[in-house]
Amino acid sequence: LHENNNNCCSFEDYKLTTDWLLNRTNLRPKVAVICGSGLGLLADAVSNKVSFRYQDIPNFPVSTVPGHEGCLVFGTVDETPCVFMQGRVHLYEGYSLCQVTFPIRMFKLMGVESVIVTNAAGGICPDFKVGDIMVIKDHINLPGFAGEHPLCGPNDERFGIRFPCMSDAYSKQMRRLAVDVGTDLGCSNFIREGVYCMVSGPNFETIAEARMLLVLGCDAVGMSTVPEVTVAKHCGLRVLGLSLITNKVSVDYSREEKVNYEEVLQISKMRAEVLQKIVTQLISRLQQQSINTH
Ligand SMILES: *[C@@H]1O[C@H](CO)[C@@H](O)[C@H](O)[C@H]1NC(C)=O
Repeated sequence: LHENNNNCCSFEDYKLTTDWLLNRTNLRPKVAVICGSGLGLLADAVSNKVSFRYQDIPNFPVSTVPGHEGCLVFGTVDETPCVFMQGRVHLYEGYSLCQVTFPIRMFKLMGVESVIVTNAAGGICPDFKVGDIMVIKDHINLPGFAGEHPLCGPNDERFGIRFPCMSDAYSKQMRRLAVDVGTDLGCSNFIREGVYCMVSGPNFETIAEARMLLVLGCDAVGMSTVPEVTVAKHCGLRVLGLSLITNKVSVDYSREEKVNYEEVLQISKMRAEVLQKIVTQLISRLQQQSINTH
């Protein structure tokens, strides 16, 4: 990677990777989907698959966590050209936020218009149950408060403005569509809406931290998504975020249960199929809407 004084990627890095990929497939994706922990199956719905391993793609960050396959899959969903990231990289793996968000700017240069970001998250809201799917309404960027922010450093105007608005990071239209699709698929009893909070990890929250997050208005907590969404919004992509609630975060000292990563992967598997249906339907309907409005 070309490195400037902020350890960031240069425009040429994004461009090279974009050209490398577009030289190897005729698909020109309109929608990008990032599959969270244990959710790589979301890409199984695509036809005309062309797949690249992250380690073979120049400049592409390689995930080191189990449950993240590390494949970039191009294909069509109901005739919409799409690209799926099976697995992502995280701050806690030691990657910089420029590396974590590298694929987003690459998607932008490819001509992607909408990004669907999924993750596995802990439920903070007392009403949430394991297996719920939360449509992200808004987020709290806790690492960002402390200066771990993907847009720190020189601003590249080719991607976006210095001081981007974040009050509408999650497209209202896509959120409404996600709830409609979920309802039509008979999932309304486990579709929620709420606020996602990012922490850096890798440890799960202490009870005192979880209680703090509850007071702050967080409904779910996880170790990803916010940097990607921030960079996507900065460069003008339309964003939808979906959190699968894979565990309840303990906010009570009298409760004995302890969260572990195997449990997270197990719940992801259980709900991956329904999440796949929701994402597939969403992409089809997005396409119909854009046909109707153009
Ligand atoms: C893409 O293909 C063009 C035309 O064949 C070539 O000039 C260019 O070097 C390729 N770029 C990459 C990054 O592979």
